[in-house]
Amino acid sequence: MEVVMVCFFAYLLGSIPFAVIASWLFKLPDPRTYGSKNPGATNVLRSGRKAAAVLTLLGDAGKGWVAVALASHFSLVLGWGVETIAGAALAVFLGHLFPVFLGFQGGKGVATSAGVLFGLDVWLGMLVILTWGLVALIGRISSLSALAAALLAPIYAYILVDSKLIVFVVVIITLLLFWRHKSNIINLAAGKETRIGEKSKT
Ligand code: G3P
Repeated sequence: MEVVMVCFFAYLLGSIPFAVIASWLFKLPDPRTYGSKNPGATNVLRSGRKAAAVLTLLGDAGKGWVAVALASHFSLVLGWGVETIAGAALAVFLGHLFPVFLGFQGGKGVATSAGVLFGLDVWLGMLVILTWGLVALIGRISSLSALAAALLAPIYAYILVDSKLIVFVVVIITLLLFWRHKSNIINLAAGKETRIGEKSKT
């Protein structure tokens, strides 16, 4: 029963659309109306307001971390099984992808998954961020960095995390993240993907 309750609250937390909230706070247009139209930090950065993008990144990553950290805490204190942590990890990510507050049309899940992975294991989070950073340094393309980091995440998880269920959840997150990046993959193949920080022309 606790799994259902944890998933429900994690999903609601994941549904909080920080890109839309930060844009509103900074009096920017809704990120769903320009650039890639994705409610995420990369697209908010295309507005030209770095602070709004940072707030989006922190909010989206933070909610992923908080959901997993809270589930881990309660698991420890109340003796809940690992399935509550796995459930929280997947539910907060799904909340970001299919948010109830945005008519189930959410983001691509990069920042939220980073927060989730940090919550599951600090070293897992660090390795994923390091991978993202290295690829970003070389290619300067946000989606390419995210795809590379997501591809390696299950391998890192397999090495670092004991629970097979958690590794399975990381695999599901990677698959969903790739699916949400369909248009980015097409743009990457065509050499049309915009570079990090390039302002939106639309
Ligand atoms: O954070 C999502 C990123 O990987 C791609 O975003 O706006 O370029 O589609 P975007």
